[in-house]
Amino acid sequence: MPRFDAVLFDLDGVLADTAHIHFAAWRRLAEELGIPLEPRFEDRLKGVDRMTSLDLILAHGNVERTVEERRVLADRKNGYYQAAIAEQSPDDLLPGARRVLEEVRAAGLKTALASASHNAPPLLDQLGIRPLIDAIANPAAVKAPKPAPDLFLEAARLVGVAPGRCLGVEDAVAGITSIKEAGMVAVGIGDPTILTRADHVVPAIADFHIGDYLG
Ligand code: BG6
Ligand code: MG
Repeated sequence: MPRFDAVLFDLDGVLADTAHIHFAAWRRLAEELGIPLEPRFEDRLKGVDRMTSLDLILAHGNVERTVEERRVLADRKNGYYQAAIAEQSPDDLLPGARRVLEEVRAAGLKTALASASHNAPPLLDQLGIRPLIDAIANPAAVKAPKPAPDLFLEAARLVGVAPGRCLGVEDAVAGITSIKEAGMVAVGIGDPTILTRADHVVPAIADFHIGDYLG
């Protein structure tokens, strides 16, 4: 019997080349606040929800803002991000992303999305991959964001698969932690020296082959 019945995917930096677009939008906002963000800060923000990301940046710059001011700042970042992804199309999928989804489906496994991004559903439409995804976990519907396990557990629940029979695919430290806390096997996309809790790490989604996990 194969070991897995579902693959749960993150979106930004796994299927779509949007991780750096999130960071560019945060960097623009941070600069406006007089907070320089060095490139290595990007890994601390990956997979982290919008408000927590803002709080990390404000704390980094020793800047204090009221709840209302923070809401306005988060909205401004989201505006920068949405403007930058407005023209995304299937050409903006990361190489291999569509092939991976098709192969997972062809192997008889379910596919689900476990993205922290509230922009994920329209982006899936723009990228043309929504028909290849069986379920989308809604980050607004779970109690705790990544690194808590809730979002991956919700994705598993939506496709009716036990966590122990799910494979999670993530590019973020927070996301890998979420997968492991959910009791799933974690495949990291990126650098093994950063994604240290992943069970297996490949450089890019193009290097992911579901057959490697079904033997
Ligand atoms: C994650 C990104 O997928 O979604 C984070 O890695 C981002 O950078 C988070 O902050 C939330 O996204 P959004 O679109 O709801 O602000
Ligand atoms: Mg990601």
